[in-house]
Amino acid sequence: MIRRRITVLGATGSVGASTLDLMAQAEATGTGAFEVEALTGGANIAKLAEQAKRWRPKLAVTADPARLDELRDALSGTDVAVAAGDAAIVEAATRPVDWIMASIVGAAGLKSAWAAAGTGATLALANKESLVCCGPALIERVKRAGGRLIPVDSEHSAIFQVFPAEAPERVAKLILTASGGPFRNTPREQMVAITPEQAVAHPNWSMGAKISVDSATMANKGLEMIEAAYLFDMPQDRIDVVVHPESIIHSLVEYVDGSTLAQMGPPDMRTPIACALAWPDRIAWLAPKLDLAQLGRLTFEAPDLTRFPALDLARQALKAGGATPAVFNAANEVAAFAFLDRKLAFLNIAAVVAETLERATKAGMAFGSGDACGAALSVDAETRRMAESVIAGLANAA
Ligand SMILES: NC(=O)c1ccc[n+]([C@@H]2O[C@H](COP(=O)([O-])OP(=O)(O)OC[C@H]3O[C@@H](n4cnc5c(N)ncnc54)[C@H](OP(=O)(O)O)[C@@H]3O)[C@@H](O)[C@H]2O)c1
Repeated sequence: MIRRRITVLGATGSVGASTLDLMAQAEATGTGAFEVEALTGGANIAKLAEQAKRWRPKLAVTADPARLDELRDALSGTDVAVAAGDAAIVEAATRPVDWIMASIVGAAGLKSAWAAAGTGATLALANKESLVCCGPALIERVKRAGGRLIPVDSEHSAIFQVFPAEAPERVAKLILTASGGPFRNTPREQMVAITPEQAVAHPNWSMGAKISVDSATMANKGLEMIEAAYLFDMPQDRIDVVVHPESIIHSLVEYVDGSTLAQMGPPDMRTPIACALAWPDRIAWLAPKLDLAQLGRLTFEAPDLTRFPALDLARQALKAGGATPAVFNAANEVAAFAFLDRKLAFLNIAAVVAETLERATKAGMAFGSGDACGAALSVDAETRRMAESVIAGLANAA
């Protein structure tokens, strides 16, 4: 039986809700017992209130100050304190707990992930954008505080489980698997008309809107390559990506002696979350199980970098180093949300990222002084302005 005092940042999202669902299953099967310190959400007050009524955290926070009264009304008659705004989320992230799930989407999750990293708690990190923006400093901060960072992304969880942390020199390379997304076989001429509804309908995984778009453009795999480089201290030329449409092998580690270890499982985020929740133990829950005979075969192919240029852009950003991965992240985030808002065509997402990277490189954009989180946030803000002007330029040219 594992016992944890827990905070979930981004509780109302896909990963956050899966975390709470898994905890409920572990409690129901008698394998886990949890106390919840804080839950945070964004616009979805009804869901946050429902979760708070179930888990009775000390604190429930919405990111949106305009929705505080709604949250207070929804939780009246309970002993759950309520708060709103970015500073309140950071305060929630610094409360003493054993385990924090950082699952806010996008660079909006950076400040609270950074705050959580300084507490000495185990940080289950789903918010890949914070690793991409200031990975080395974030990892160092966790270590210095005496905490532990456990990756939640299924690919990094897979590598984490088969990586020889005690002897990294035994590793020849990391192999990240990618589903290929919903447009793996879509001819380029048909990709012009892709709609947000088509892009968020992922064939294997149920995820939030932004990561679904990232998955469809393969920018997600680019972000994950950067994440893997930082988490496992691996140069980009020793990280391969292979498309594996069944999403059963979640990633692999090739050893110097030619042996390759893979981690497998059905495509359900609760499995990597369970791994992070119980690590170094294992927790039983009502996990879907693999039936290899029924699956029959697993297939692999090389990614198509012509139809999915975002992957190569991420590799170039990682090679350039410094602030460039943070530029890649911010440009991609602005472009992905512009696409979701129907202000940008699908194929222009990567075009906006490429143009923004070029402008930022020409402008010599670099991290300024101050702590790594503040420096990354200022690069993020500057890149957003640049990416928005690239999008405006495209709209004017149309
Ligand atoms: N979903 C997956 O399967 C998966 C897999 C691997 C990694 N990840 C990573 O995990 C993170 C979360 O992904 P997701 O798919 O769970 O996203 P999601 O479903 O969109 O949920 C995002 C969460 O962040 C909250 N939020 C949104 N904007 C915010 C802001 N400005 N300030 C504070 N909170 C804010 C949302 O609140 P409201 O919904 O209440 O507005 C929600 O709780 C991302 O970094 C993603 O790349 C996700």
